Amino acid sequence: MTWSPLEARALAVRDHAYAPYSKFKVGAAVRMSGGEYAAANVENASYPLGVCAERNAIAAAVAAGARELEAVAVCTESSPPSSPCGGCRQVLFEFAKDPTKVVVTAFNPAGERRSWTLAELLPDGFRGSELP
Ligand code: THU
Repeated sequence: MTWSPLEARALAVRDHAYAPYSKFKVGAAVRMSGGEYAAANVENASYPLGVCAERNAIAAAVAAGARELEAVAVCTESSPPSSPCGGCRQVLFEFAKDPTKVVVTAFNPAGERRSWTLAELLPDGFRGSELP
């Protein structure tokens, strides 16, 4: 199988997922401001406190000072590969200057892939510029 560098990060970090409750391990990697950042989902015994892999990857990127989202890769075991949940789409949207240019690729270790632009996944997302 051949992976893009971003996919390779998402695939590798998935092994570190903490998902003892759902058993659904997710690895996500984002390219932001030229750097690449990866994270896995982290669940909690208090179920609603679990955090998705995509949101943790954004948090790692932001903590490193990156601000502009360029691309996303998400790795699950699902077939077809699972796309990011609605909440994560909005979190990704926050950092996408032009969502029509941000490619989101969902894939699985078997090599199946699906990809969209962020604009396709979240048309008319909410922008902070709309706040009073
Ligand atoms: N999950 C993600 O990490 N990303 C998604 O986009 C969908 C769901 C995680 C949350 C939870 O730990 C597990 O998958 C099952 O929902």
